[in-house]
Amino acid sequence: MKIAVIGAKGMLGRELCRVLGSRHQILAWDIEEIDITDRPGTLEILSAEQPELIVNSAVFVDLEGCETNPDKAWQINAVGAQNLALAAQQARSALVYVSTDYIFDGKSETDYDEVSQPNPLNQYGRSKLAGERLSLQICPRTYAVRTAWLFGHTPNNYVERVLKAADTEGVVRMPVDQLESPTYTGHLSEAILRLIDTGAYGIYNVTGLGACTRAGFAQYVLQQADRSEPVEIVEAVALKRFAKRPVRSVLDCRLYQLVAGHTLPDWQQGIRDYLANASRLGN
Ligand SMILES: NC(=O)c1ccc[n+]([C@@H]2O[C@H](COP(=O)([O-])OP(=O)(O)OC[C@H]3O[C@@H](n4cnc5c(N)ncnc54)[C@H](OP(=O)(O)O)[C@@H]3O)[C@@H](O)[C@H]2O)c1
Repeated sequence: MKIAVIGAKGMLGRELCRVLGSRHQILAWDIEEIDITDRPGTLEILSAEQPELIVNSAVFVDLEGCETNPDKAWQINAVGAQNLALAAQQARSALVYVSTDYIFDGKSETDYDEVSQPNPLNQYGRSKLAGERLSLQICPRTYAVRTAWLFGHTPNNYVERVLKAADTEGVVRMPVDQLESPTYTGHLSEAILRLIDTGAYGIYNVTGLGACTRAGFAQYVLQQADRSEPVEIVEAVALKRFAKRPVRSVLDCRLYQLVAGHTLPDWQQGIRDYLANASRLGN
């Protein structure tokens, strides 16, 4: 299949190109090749190439940046998604829209499934929910893949931030204010590879199994990297973040498991696989 991966230089986009490229022909496009906020340009490029599938992994993901510049958040995350969905319809392509656990408010004590009511707390989540809805409304052949807390082979990902803090400060300071499911981009990309074979379009939760806090994640990274630096719990207010975050945004991945016949490994396995692949794939 000919697949256009949009946002191909991003943390997830790179891994998608590698994993989907094992079985499919990939057009790896980022902002230099296609600006998804430019509707005529986006329609023209995709109509000329006629991919069978478009994967929208382009995003403005900076949470604080989305609060200070909501126009930019909505332009890329909602209007950009709309333009790609229009292009998919015009080119008769299927679409993958990568969505997020931040569409939920985190107030539920149970895991969120695909029919749980979204209620985003910040502009990032609101603009992503708009992008998800526009994708599904415009292009019925859409897989909307909701995932969470990604780490993959790009500099400054969460694993590398933990190791860098250990190196430079001798201690890793992390909060415990959020419970989420860290997801290795290699595992998510494998899941998307399976999903696009099904033809079963719709919304799917796809994350690493289990959940942890930032401090719990750091602890496990240090342990697996044979490091002895301590993890110190820091109050969330000390981080001076102003975008609200969901306290508990754990997603129930049962639907994906039933439809794809596959279960993602847990987040600890994600960290082990990341560390095992880091020397080969870089970070
Ligand atoms: N990161 C997470 O923890 C997380 C969690 C849940 C869901 N997700 C979702 O996963 C997907 C991938 O996220 P990511 O972390 O891989 O993001 P990322 O590393 O920031 O990658 C996004 C890519 O999109 C590019 N881009 C930005 N504006 C564009 C435009 N107008 N046209 C074309 N390309 C554009 C970016 O280029 P520049 O760098 O030059 O801006 C970047 O290369 C997103 O849908 C995100 O919402 C991420």
